[in-house]
Amino acid sequence: MKSEDKRLLRVLAGETLDPPPAWMMRQAGRYLPEYRATRAEAGSFLDLCYRPDLAAEVTLQPIRRYGFDASILFADILLVPQALGADLWFVEGEGPRLSTITSAADFAKLKPVETIHETLAPIYETVRILRRELPAETALIGFAGAPWTVATYMIAGQGTKDQAPARKLMYGDPETFDKLMDLITEATCEYLIRQIEAGAEVVKLFDSWAGALPGPVFEKYATLPAKRIVDRLAQVHPNVPVIGFPRQAGEKVERFIETSGIAACAIDTNVDPAWAARVLQPKTCVQGNLDPALLITGGPMLERSVMNLRETFANGPYIFNLGHGITPDANPEHVQTMLDVLRR
Ligand code: CP3
Repeated sequence: MKSEDKRLLRVLAGETLDPPPAWMMRQAGRYLPEYRATRAEAGSFLDLCYRPDLAAEVTLQPIRRYGFDASILFADILLVPQALGADLWFVEGEGPRLSTITSAADFAKLKPVETIHETLAPIYETVRILRRELPAETALIGFAGAPWTVATYMIAGQGTKDQAPARKLMYGDPETFDKLMDLITEATCEYLIRQIEAGAEVVKLFDSWAGALPGPVFEKYATLPAKRIVDRLAQVHPNVPVIGFPRQAGEKVERFIETSGIAACAIDTNVDPAWAARVLQPKTCVQGNLDPALLITGGPMLERSVMNLRETFANGPYIFNLGHGITPDANPEHVQTMLDVLRR
């Protein structure tokens, strides 16, 4: 099947489909026993990311089990910092750790953009395997972290509640902060271009910490970097849509959509669907925003919430998804129920 005929790409081109195409953030993940088995075989999460055969296998697992309309490359947004020379490791049960960047001297130790492909080559191989092995109707989504979100991890060396270390560098040493943002933005463009050349048909930019950007700098550090990436990709691959995810940016999402030029906007769990349908959907395709907690509990609340989303977004282009990643304690049977209700 040609890319443009796949259901995900049809809504990204502006069509309204009922039922809408569906996929889930973190659909390859620890809630699935087959994921846990392959991850154990790989040894660690990072080993799994860098083993193309196994990374392709876990990407395919939720497609085999549920027949989602789209599959998302299995990798992580923190591979780009690692390719730029940051140390990266994962602490079991806690999350990522990186070497920190708090000064011009730390920044100077990072590597130039041209060298990232040495580290990231296995990811492009995973994409090539997936384009060969996915069912003909399943769209393949590539992804990267948005520059601000990636910068927050590179600066603090871990996830934080309020991204205070990143904001401190932004205000205290704006020159180093801007250079870091530029470097990440350039690396992200080159990374996504290679993913597209390997077979990604759509790409998504995860700005998971967009909500921690203060209002006066939101445009500068969330919207304009997204626009730079959208514009650069459009020069090289004009037919590949970009999905933005400015998580927890509230009402700022509206200007983000208008200015960045993204083809679709993923909305987080906090967003009121009725507001998004009224204000955002006339401007762009909307994706989201089922509460992942409903996949832990299931039951009538899950069914009602799925039907509500389907109805609320029925009058425009819409991609069914969660408002954030599915959690390890989700019940795989509730995922099937969610899809059955959506497609009934
Ligand atoms: O969505 C998918 O299925 C594709 C793969 C994917 C992963 N991470 C796999 C992963 C994607 C798109 C990401 C994006 C990502 N990674 C983000 C942005 C989206 C979001 O969730 O806000 C962020 C902030 C990261 C950084 C990261 N990676 C953190 C903070 C953690 C630890 C938290 C956790 O859930 O354990 C990871 C680990 C990670 N990335 C896992 C997976 C499946 C769990 C690792 C494991 O198997 O132990």
